Parts: sequence; C-alpha cells; structure tokens
Amino acid sequence: MKVIIETDRLYLRELLPGDVQGMFEMDSDPDVHRFVGRSPVKTLDESIKAIENIRRQYKDFGVARLAIIEKVTEGFVGWGGLKFITENVNGFQNYHDLGYRFIKRYWGKGYAKESTKGVIKYAFEKLKLPVIYAIADLEHKASRNVLESSGFDFVNSFEYDGDPHAWYKLSPIPVHKRTALFDSEQI
Ligand SMILES: CC(C)(COP(=O)(O)OP(=O)(O)OC[C@H]1O[C@@H](n2cnc3c(N)ncnc32)[C@H](O)[C@@H]1OP(=O)(O)O)[C@@H](O)C(=O)NCCC(=O)NCCS
Repeated sequence: MKVIIETDRLYLRELLPGDVQGMFEMDSDPDVHRFVGRSPVKTLDESIKAIENIRRQYKDFGVARLAIIEKVTEGFVGWGGLKFITENVNGFQNYHDLGYRFIKRYWGKGYAKESTKGVIKYAFEKLKLPVIYAIADLEHKASRNVLESSGFDFVNSFEYDGDPHAWYKLSPIPVHKRTALFDSEQI
C-alpha cells in the first residue's frame, strides 16, 4: 500500500478498483447522502464508475479524494482529502476543495477531524497550496464542526444544489502569526 497521508489511527491512499464494495456500502446509504445531494447509488456499477472518475482526477490534477483505511482493522472507512474543482462554485473556479464521506458505522469516532488534520498538513506542507476551501450544508452540524475545529473560517452562505450552504476558507498560518506553543513544537 502506498500511503500518502498517515495519522494516529488512519492511512490515506489512492482509491483502488478493489474499494468498490466499501464505496457501494457508503454511497447506497440514504443517511450518508442526506447532505450531499440525496441521491444514493443503486448499483455496483455506479460505484465502479465513481472510482474510475476519481482515479482519472489523480492523473489530470495530481490530487483527488483518497481512500481512508482504519489501521487496526484495515477496513475501508470512506474517502477524504482534496479535489480540484473546475466548475464555478460560489464565484470560485479552479480551486482545491477539502471533503470527506464515511460509511455510517465509522461515524462518531473522530475520524473526520483526525483525517482532515492530516489532509491540511499535506496540502500546505507537501503541496504548498496557498489556500483551500470547503463547503457544507448550513444545517450539517457535524461537517461544520469538523471544518471549524480544523481552523477553517466561515466566509459566507450561498445556494448550492438547491440548499443553503456555508463556504469556508483556510490558508496556512504565516510563521510570524503562530502561537508560542506552535513555535515551541518546532524547536
Ligand atoms: C460528516 C462526517 C464525515 C463526520 O464524520 P465523523 O468521523 O463522524 O466526525 P467526527 O467523529 O470527527 O466528529 C466531528 C465533530 O462533529 C460532532 N458531531 C458529529 N455528529 C454530529 C451531529 N449529528 N450533530 C452535531 N455535531 C456532531 C462531533 O461531536 C465532533 O465534534 P467534537 O469532537 O467537538 O465532539 C460523517 O458524518 C459522514 O460521512 N457523513 C456523510 C457524508 C457527508 O455528509 N459528508 C460531508 C459533506 S459536507
């Protein structure tokens, strides 16, 4: 397994054709799709195509959502990470979006916060991105909590897919603005 990001309890690696059962379990669940368009998949073929689409983005843009694997069980948790958005969203285009989506039985374990922390470090320290954005349905408390506790700033609300959404932004903290605690970790 070629690990791209590692956290205490998780590995993040490229999504592979073999992840199809996990993808199907996740994306066929109406609860998982409550805040992401409410159109769960019905066939395995749709999950095969979703993986192919993500794998095409690795080639086209160098980044795309990554599979998240629970270290202790080697189970497929879901996906998370960056996506290069080419369409216009909230007046922005050609930018990096951070997102995540997990199989329901992995919710509530702190995996979204943990993996997001790893993705942010990767985005700024390895890819040297100047900024990343994220969106969440205004009523999606769990996702907004993940973003806000990961340091994202709420910028504005806007209409997306027929529902009001929150637009979030995160830039790397300039060295001169880091707290004493953060600086002491570098010594
Ligand atoms: C959103 C999602 C990834 C969160 O994953 P998770 O691993 O359960 O999140 P975490 O365990 O890291 O919890 C994140 C925070 O949200 C809080 N939270 C979780 N569910 C919540 C809820 N229903 N209401 C309010 N807060 C909630 C947690 O308490 C935690 O905050 P805390 O650490 O301060 O207590 C998961 O619910 C999911 O896959 N949902 C379906 C797909 C989706 O909606 N993706 C996001 C689209 S914007």
